[in-house]
Amino acid sequence: MSASVPVITLDGPGGAGKGTVCLLLANKLGWHMLDSGSLYRLTALEALRKDVRKEPQLIEIAKKMDIEYVPVKGQLQVLLDGREVTDAIRAEAVGSRASEIAAIAGVRQALLERQRAFAVAPGLLADGRDMGTVVFPQAQLKIFLTASPEERAKRRYKQLKEKGIDANLPELVAELKARDKRDCERSAAPLKAAADAILLDTTEMSIEQVVEQVMQLASQRFGSSVA
Ligand code: DC
Repeated sequence: MSASVPVITLDGPGGAGKGTVCLLLANKLGWHMLDSGSLYRLTALEALRKDVRKEPQLIEIAKKMDIEYVPVKGQLQVLLDGREVTDAIRAEAVGSRASEIAAIAGVRQALLERQRAFAVAPGLLADGRDMGTVVFPQAQLKIFLTASPEERAKRRYKQLKEKGIDANLPELVAELKARDKRDCERSAAPLKAAADAILLDTTEMSIEQVVEQVMQLASQRFGSSVA
């Protein structure tokens, strides 16, 4: 990663608001964004479609899958082999499989350079679990977003319903807790805040308040270029 490219990392558990905040900030700043979870979800989707379960083949998928991100009306469309899979990768089954696959060190290694390639001028907002600890340890601003599991499940429920995807709130709470446990306890790049990350608990905050707070931190760190 070039030290001259400003990078803001946003790490934290699923449903803490990272994705929405990242997208809003990327649009506000005119920076690129990396939704690193989508890379694990794409690997999972391809594995589910091809019924791949063995590690070497999963690593092969992570290395070789043909993916593209296309900005459309302030959102990022995700293409796999030229086919739109933006909503397909958000299904809970894909998320669960992604969390299992993300525990495989070889898969993480295969996705590392793909992720670092996103750090190009004028700047990058990187959303994930290990952005500040492993992928961009030199990032100039690192944020760790959290919220209670119940609040995170409610947000995910709302998001899924808005997309017309069927969801069940108690099941979502249980799945989020199971995924948190797996993400925190795995030995390869577990979910944890970088030592130099700023912690933000968003349970009681609106998305606008979180964006505002990160913008303030960004202008303290990067000066007038982001004001
Ligand atoms: O943020 P998300 O729900 O889209 O991520 C899907 C899964 O991918 C999540 O359970 C953990 C994994 N993941 C990861 O291990 N490292 C990242 N940087 C991003 C996601």
